[in-house]
Amino acid sequence: MTIKTAIIGTGWFSNVHADLLSRMDGVSVEAFVGTSLDKAERSASAYASARAYADVEQMLDAVKPDAVYICVPPFAHGDIERQLIERRIPFLVEKPLSTNLEVPQQIVQGVKDAGLITSVGYHFRYTDAALKAAEVLEGRKIGMALGYWMGDMPQVYWWRKQEGSGGQFIEQTTHMADLLRRLLGEVDEVYAAFAQRAMHDIHEGVTVHDVGTVTMKLKSGAVATISNTCLLPEGGQVGLTIYTEQGTVEVKPDKLVVADKGIVTEYRNRANPYQRENEAFIHAVRTGDTSGISSNYEDAYKTMELTYAALRSAETGMPVKLG
Ligand SMILES: NC(=O)c1ccc[n+]([C@@H]2O[C@H](COP(=O)([O-])OP(=O)(O)OC[C@H]3O[C@@H](n4cnc5c(N)ncnc54)[C@H](O)[C@@H]3O)[C@@H](O)[C@H]2O)c1
Repeated sequence: MTIKTAIIGTGWFSNVHADLLSRMDGVSVEAFVGTSLDKAERSASAYASARAYADVEQMLDAVKPDAVYICVPPFAHGDIERQLIERRIPFLVEKPLSTNLEVPQQIVQGVKDAGLITSVGYHFRYTDAALKAAEVLEGRKIGMALGYWMGDMPQVYWWRKQEGSGGQFIEQTTHMADLLRRLLGEVDEVYAAFAQRAMHDIHEGVTVHDVGTVTMKLKSGAVATISNTCLLPEGGQVGLTIYTEQGTVEVKPDKLVVADKGIVTEYRNRANPYQRENEAFIHAVRTGDTSGISSNYEDAYKTMELTYAALRSAETGMPVKLG
């Protein structure tokens, strides 16, 4: 049986997913939905089976997809998910779930009540580095972790607006917060300091912070900090280093570096994590077996709670307890 997919959003990341889907056996990309028909037509024209729509409801009525990919900016979530829940259509949604907790709070309940298959685009979880790190950490006592996302400011217009993206920690560094949860467990308390240092002077209309550091107490007793900046002229320093009694375990976007009592071993990623993520989701849609999905909506909601708690702490100057 061919799984009919539809993609909502016509930006860069819609194409990343559509390319992977179009190369999979038994999967077809049937539709693109854009904010204008023009944009949707441009995206759809690259795929023989795809048609263009400017309205989600119209597309759902016409295509009746088996699965939907939501690749829209953080501010645009809510209605799309609600329509999919109503029609019981499984979806893969790109991170972050929103700019704050209001929308995800409603959606997470709807997803649970419907028992819907969902997946969230936390692709770091599917890297060889993260999978191997989980294995290595099993025999070790974790003391603390240090995460970082030090780079430049993405050029898309919505990213630099607080109400558009939620800010760097919620939009981008969320990958490190999510990886921390995956490898070290849940966070109990958050204290954050964020500031605007340079980007609001360099570019017009920047309302997001451009530096920040977040200190966390974990339920396990371990502690962690994750820092980020988007004021550098170029990107590149991204990772999470975990400190254990046997040495460090460092997850980078392209590799894992493990120190074991002085012996250092590097494991480079071989598989494409986006492909793994997509295969796990499509397999779940086809068979009902969700065991390959590492991050579903309920789990990603906890990452959203954590990153939003960091923003609230930075705004109030007070530590924030998580549930
Ligand atoms: N997992 C990853 O590695 C990764 C990488 C890049 C982007 N992303 C995520 O993907 C999402 C999209 O990012 P992007 O880089 O493609 O952004 P983009 O700005 O290039 O594209 C977003 C698209 O969504 C469309 N859109 C906005 N509101 C819409 C609506 N209500 N209905 C339909 N379309 C709508 C816009 O017109 C645009 O075409 C973001 O949440 C981003 O964080 C994830």
